[in-house]
Amino acid sequence: MAAGAKLDPGKVRGEFPLLAGKRGKGRLVYLDSAATTQKPERVIAAEARFYRESNANVHRGLYDLAGRATEAYEGCRRRVAAFLGADPRGVVITRNATAALNLAALGSARLLGRGDEILVTVMEHHANLVPWIQVAKRTGAALKHIPLDRMGRLDLEALPGLLGPRTRIAALSAASNVLGTIPPLAEIARRAREAGALVVVDAAQAAGRLPLSFEKTGADLLAFSAHKCYGPMGLGFLVGKPEVLERLEPLETGGEMIEAVHMDRASWAEVPRRFEAGTPNVAAAAAFPPALDLLEEIGLDRVRRHEMELTEYALERLSSLEGLEILGPANPEERVGLVSFHDPLVHPHDLATFLDGEGVAVRAGHHCAQPLHRILGIPSSLRASFGIYTVKEDVDALVEGIGKARRYFQG
Ligand SMILES: Cc1ncc(COP(=O)(O)O)c(C=O)c1O
Repeated sequence: MAAGAKLDPGKVRGEFPLLAGKRGKGRLVYLDSAATTQKPERVIAAEARFYRESNANVHRGLYDLAGRATEAYEGCRRRVAAFLGADPRGVVITRNATAALNLAALGSARLLGRGDEILVTVMEHHANLVPWIQVAKRTGAALKHIPLDRMGRLDLEALPGLLGPRTRIAALSAASNVLGTIPPLAEIARRAREAGALVVVDAAQAAGRLPLSFEKTGADLLAFSAHKCYGPMGLGFLVGKPEVLERLEPLETGGEMIEAVHMDRASWAEVPRRFEAGTPNVAAAAAFPPALDLLEEIGLDRVRRHEMELTEYALERLSSLEGLEILGPANPEERVGLVSFHDPLVHPHDLATFLDGEGVAVRAGHHCAQPLHRILGIPSSLRASFGIYTVKEDVDALVEGIGKARRYFQG
């Protein structure tokens, strides 16, 4: 793509079989990329090609085919490390971001004791909250929460009262899946580190949307899923500093993750292998690098600008609907490409079902963030989220659909 040129979502759509060639009435208006992105042909083809040409188990056979499968798997680890500027020895391959965050939380139980503190935020997805609740219960540690300010941003003025000598871990998302809020991650990480805490970043909504460097986030451990970055399902990552990973306890034991096993004891392989018990999803690992190639061919800066433009457009168009309560910061620069809202006139589930009838796919519910919705004083919300293939007409279809639904439900 020519330097300076904008991302052309119409052209990008051509790579996505589920979206390609469908325009005008009857086309799918897919506004649920925060749940999972659609997959480009090159990812679908790579997964099929693995099974057709390279299928074998990894790290096991001494024959050529097993070598090819192992290379596909290890190649994915190296590709993810390069994508984030991280050390490949620090890339643990997991099932998804949830598994990665469970490993970060439950694996660090040995670092926590009664009276220690874990700092999270009130806008976390359950995947970056429930594992910490569990580890707090198990160890006697206490959970503390960074609140929001009135604009839907994290309230940094509360930080001095929350960070202290007992703060062992600060776990927060790089972007909220409901508010879209992008917190000043590097600054929070720096202050948490100064207090002596490890920093865990949930990058599930940031990876593939924002230019992301592991080092610049300030994270010790960072989790994300391939399926939200145009890659396959069943694949996620916990990216960490190798010396930090060394301090975590493996949660799953068995084959692949050991160094030596005796009848009554076992020792672990080096990191990251000690966290990868059993046969992994090698086909998904083989199919993820092409998704990262696509993102890098477009350029993450361009992806970011495209999402920001769509967010700005959606905020503007949705605010023309009287009474609609839009969640999160008003400034598109402070948010990723998603907009959640609450319509006091139509229940979110009725609205989502009606919109489906109009060919518009959006998400209704609490989006795995019940505590946040409780704080916002709403039971659920509707979320429209964007990707590299989203066009402004998709936002138009959403706004028109809501108007139509309001007329239908209010008679
Ligand atoms: C912010 C955030 N964290 C974690 C997750 C969990 O991702 P996965 O379901 O792929 O494990 C999600 C998924 O929606 C998310 O939005």
